[in-house]
Amino acid sequence: MTANPYPLGLRLHGRRVVVVGGGAVATRRVPALLDAGADVLLVAPELTPALRARVDAGRLHWVPRRFEPEDLDGAWLVQVAVDDPMAAASVSAVAAERRIFCVRADDRTAATAWTPAVTRHGPVTVAVLGGGDPRRAMTVRDAVRELLAVRLGSGGTASTRGRPGPPAGATGGTGAGGSTGATGTAGAAGAGGAGGAGGAGGAGGATGAAGAGSGRRPGRVALVGAGPGDPELITVKGWRLLTEADVVVADRLVPGLLLDELRPDVELVDASKIPYGPSRAQEEINQILVDRALAGAAVVRLKGGDPYVFGRGGEELLACAAAGVPVTVVPGVTSSIAAPAAAGIPVTHRGVAHEFTVVSGHLAPDSPASLVRWDALAGLRGTLVILMGLKNLAAITATLIAHGRPPQTPAAVVQEATTGTQRILRSTLGEVAADLLAADLRPPAVVVVGDVVGALDG
Ligand SMILES: C[S@@+](CC[C@H](N)C(=O)[O-])C[C@H]1O[C@@H](n2cnc3c(N)ncnc32)[C@H](O)[C@@H]1O
Repeated sequence: MTANPYPLGLRLHGRRVVVVGGGAVATRRVPALLDAGADVLLVAPELTPALRARVDAGRLHWVPRRFEPEDLDGAWLVQVAVDDPMAAASVSAVAAERRIFCVRADDRTAATAWTPAVTRHGPVTVAVLGGGDPRRAMTVRDAVRELLAVRLGSGGTASTRGRPGPPAGATGGTGAGGSTGATGTAGAAGAGGAGGAGGAGGAGGATGAAGAGSGRRPGRVALVGAGPGDPELITVKGWRLLTEADVVVADRLVPGLLLDELRPDVELVDASKIPYGPSRAQEEINQILVDRALAGAAVVRLKGGDPYVFGRGGEELLACAAAGVPVTVVPGVTSSIAAPAAAGIPVTHRGVAHEFTVVSGHLAPDSPASLVRWDALAGLRGTLVILMGLKNLAAITATLIAHGRPPQTPAAVVQEATTGTQRILRSTLGEVAADLLAADLRPPAVVVVGDVVGALDG
């Protein structure tokens, strides 16, 4: 390739883009296509759980088989995300015949289009091509991102999707790092580059982790809260650790655009735990974290919302600690507060609610395994925020009413909060379960019960 590429901003809204392949590369590429409003057709015999979740949510079309030429009917762009060079070449041949630009994950030189390294600052998108060298593109992109962050600041209209670099002094584990209370549990293996990993006291008992004494950088794990859905809602520290990661183990609910900006050499492990669908056992996830860290990798365990709010972060921290792997915990913006906020509902409001309670509704109130005292919750006057509660909502609301919470108490459901597909339902405790079905709301969603639901209404 001697000629320079010609840069363009593709306006893909409503336009067909075909993605061939359903593995890690497609998992990383599809979110940005959806963010651009593309009509995505995914052709692959199998999908990662994260992609399957998007299919189940009706965000894209899936053809569960290998590629056939008619898949490109009506396509404006094709992304080939398969490892098999023969299969990839046959897709590009069809694309070339039809004059459709083709991005190739397996062979950039055979592609007719390249995906740039991207940083997004509100309405501004900066895309960098590195002359065929993705690392160069990433390096320049990172420098531009830092520059824009400094220029625009976190309070600027360009917002913080560009994730400003951490303020001076924050990298040593002070400031935001002060809240990573778990760091001391597992100790820190010397002065690792994670900054926050050393925040709670330098070398701890885990210095025996792989890499120590071998000259290789010791591995580490960061449990990072990715926030509720908007990629701008990850913390500065979480973002920094993500940019430093060698391995990212991501849940289904993490914002897809965060994955789109990872370096191409980062190993992405899809640890999606889809309710009632395919899942990796928690033990397997723990083992992946430990194994990769012991092999010297900087591992980020990226979790939706906050790692410790129904996120099983505690189990992962204990598993790492037991294996002598240093861990840092970066809190995240939890959906239990952010989802109501995104719907204009403050979880507390002066003169309206002096408390809010976050509760899991994944078990029905009469389940012997439930740890929730629904009868006691019914006696509270404040705000009740129910996560994972859609399936059992009829039983939950009936129980709350039976134990004294008035049926006319305002209630709301917020689906896919802080994303472009957010939906809000306002109702009452007595009617919300039926209204939810009628409106066909689906997980992930948060249910809010209490007078705060109408507190900011004009
Ligand atoms: C396993 S819990 C994880 C909660 C997460 N750790 C947090 O702090 O937000 C998953 C539940 O969180 C809620 N949730 C997560 N993201 C959401 C979003 N963007 N909108 C609404 N609810 C969300 C839903 O109730 C979902 O079923």
